[in-house]
Amino acid sequence: MKIHVFDSQYEAGLYAALMAKRTIMEREKPVLGLATGATSIPFYSALVQSCHDGLDFSRVTTVNLDELVGIGADDPRSYRYFMQHRLFSRVNILPENAHVPNGLAIDEAAECARYDRVIDAHTPDLQILGIGGNGHIGFNEPGCALLARTHVIRLHRDTVTANARAFPMLDDYPSRAITVGVTDIFRAARIVLMAFGEKKADIVARAIEDPITTHIPASLLRLHANVTVLLDRASADRLSPSITTGIKLKEGRLTQVEM
Ligand code: GLP
Repeated sequence: MKIHVFDSQYEAGLYAALMAKRTIMEREKPVLGLATGATSIPFYSALVQSCHDGLDFSRVTTVNLDELVGIGADDPRSYRYFMQHRLFSRVNILPENAHVPNGLAIDEAAECARYDRVIDAHTPDLQILGIGGNGHIGFNEPGCALLARTHVIRLHRDTVTANARAFPMLDDYPSRAITVGVTDIFRAARIVLMAFGEKKADIVARAIEDPITTHIPASLLRLHANVTVLLDRASADRLSPSITTGIKLKEGRLTQVEM
């Protein structure tokens, strides 16, 4: 596991976007596994800028981690809406190549099985992840056991509260979600976990330095062969300095990434 600490979220997002850019340029049919949440915003901004600078998304397939149950693409709380506005409508990806679970599916089991087939056909070369305040990845919430493949999960109350904070005007935030499972996440060739801000410092330190446990799903990532963690100074605050590498922009640019 490589752990890089940046001066700002912007730089960390740029670094993740450069990793995605390299993946897109190196692979014939690149597949990006994507996440939602405030953490991913600098990454998407940098990726959109890469497209404006000439990066071609027409061969790219994206597979999102999760979606809230009961809301659709026009609802600003939905992850499809987030992706549409942050990325899909701003790059030349083909709409049929941008996959997000369907939160409005009547038959949830069938939707989970369908999404498993999507992942089987399009296993990510690079998987972007955020981390929930309780250590969840995707919507794999802490517990005694985790599920391998796509499933519907009841969200922990703290997850609902944390995610609903972005929508203070709406008081009925969905309490269930469709999420890919931990095996799905582990199938990615490379994983990039991002976390920013003081409020993530504790869970980042526990995920990286405490024993590996399903009670902190992100800690399982230490069992994957190719994980890069991108942090800002605040989220890295409780980690042992000896396990992190600092990366700085040179002349306002990041030119190289380590993959
Ligand atoms: C949601 C998503 C996760 C994401 C998390 C962090 O729970 N399902 O994939 O990592 O939010 O969100 P934020 O980046 O807003 O802190």
